[in-house]
Amino acid sequence: MKAALIENYGDIQQLIVTETQIPTIAADQVLIKVHAAGVNPVDFYIRSGMFKDTGTHSLPLTLGWDTAGTIEQIGERVTEHKVGDQVFALAPFAKNGSYAEYLAIEADIVVSKPKHLSFAESAAVPLAALTAWQGLFTEGKLKAGQRVLIHNTSGGVGSFAVQLAKAAGAYVIGTASKKNREFVESLGVDEFIDYQNNKFEGEVAPVDLVFAAVGGDDIVARSLAVIKAGGHLISLFDEIDEVLATEQQVTYQRLWVQPNAADLTQIKDLLEQGKVQVHLDSLFPLADAQLAHQRSESKRTVGKIVLQVIAD
Ligand SMILES: NC(=O)c1ccc[n+]([C@@H]2O[C@H](COP(=O)([O-])OP(=O)(O)OC[C@H]3O[C@@H](n4cnc5c(N)ncnc54)[C@H](OP(=O)(O)O)[C@@H]3O)[C@@H](O)[C@H]2O)c1
Repeated sequence: MKAALIENYGDIQQLIVTETQIPTIAADQVLIKVHAAGVNPVDFYIRSGMFKDTGTHSLPLTLGWDTAGTIEQIGERVTEHKVGDQVFALAPFAKNGSYAEYLAIEADIVVSKPKHLSFAESAAVPLAALTAWQGLFTEGKLKAGQRVLIHNTSGGVGSFAVQLAKAAGAYVIGTASKKNREFVESLGVDEFIDYQNNKFEGEVAPVDLVFAAVGGDDIVARSLAVIKAGGHLISLFDEIDEVLATEQQVTYQRLWVQPNAADLTQIKDLLEQGKVQVHLDSLFPLADAQLAHQRSESKRTVGKIVLQVIAD
C-alpha cells in the first residue's frame, strides 16, 4: 500500500510517500481502508524528532493519527463493528498512523462517522475535537453558565472548543488575530480579543476556566491573573510550575489528548445535531503530504488540514 512515512527524523524532506506492507490486525483490532487522514501539529513535531528520546516510536513510522474510512476486516474478538461500516477515530500515537491506504486500529476506539459529513470532514474531527472536549469538560469541568477564555480560537482545536463550549451553555471569550475575527465570531464567541494588539489580562473579567490552545509569550502563566479562585487552567503546550497555580487556588493541568470512543460519540452527536460544524483550512492528496506539513508548520491555518487518500 501507499503511505507517507519517515525513515529518519528531521525536516519536511524526511516525509516520503512510498510503498509499504498492509498492516495485519490483532484479534481486538479492525483494518480501516483509509479515505482521509487529519493533519495536526503533533504530526510535524513527531516528524521533527521532538519525542525521539522518549522511546515511544520506532522507525520507519507512518505519521498521522486522525482517520476516516471504511472497515475492511475485523479481528476475531471484535463485536462492535462489521465490514463495510463507515467510521472515524483517533489512533494511538505510539503506533503507525493514518497517512496510508490502510490502518490497523483497536476496535474499541473506533466510532461510526457522522452520517452527513464527508470522509474528509470526518477525518478533521477526532484529535482536535477530543482535545477540546477533554480540556473543557473532562479536566476543565466547564458547566452551563460558566465563563471560559479560549486562547487561539481560529486553529483546529480552538474552532471546535468554541462550538463545544457554546453548545454546553458557557460564555466564551476567544483570542485570535484581527484577520480571523469574522470567522471566530461565526463560531459563536461572545467576546473577541485581538491577541496581537491587546493584552487579554486588561480585557477579561474573571473566568472559571482558561483553555490555552497555543504556547509562547508566557500565555499560560499570565492566564492565572484572570481565573477565579477554584477555577481551572488547561494548557495544551507550555508547562508552568504547578505551585504558581496552587497559590491562586487554581487547578492546573498540561493536557495530553487520549483516544476515547465515548467522548467521540458525544462529539459525533453534536455534529449530527448541527450544533458543531467542521471548518477545513485545506485539503491535499496523500502524494502532497509534504505540502500539508508545510501548511501546518506555518501555524497560520484556520480550521483543519486534511489529507485525502481516496477522493470523496
Ligand atoms: N496536548 C495535546 O494533547 C494537544 C492536542 C492538540 C493540539 N495541541 C497543541 O495545541 C496547539 C493548537 O493546536 P491546533 O491544531 O489548533 O493548531 P493550529 O490549527 O495549527 O493553530 C493555528 C492557529 O493558531 C493561531 N495562533 C497562533 N498564535 C496565536 C496566539 N498567540 N494567540 C492566538 N492564536 C494564535 C493562528 O492564528 P493567526 O494566524 O491569527 O495567528 C492560527 O489560526 C498546538 O500547539 C498543538 O501542538 C496539543
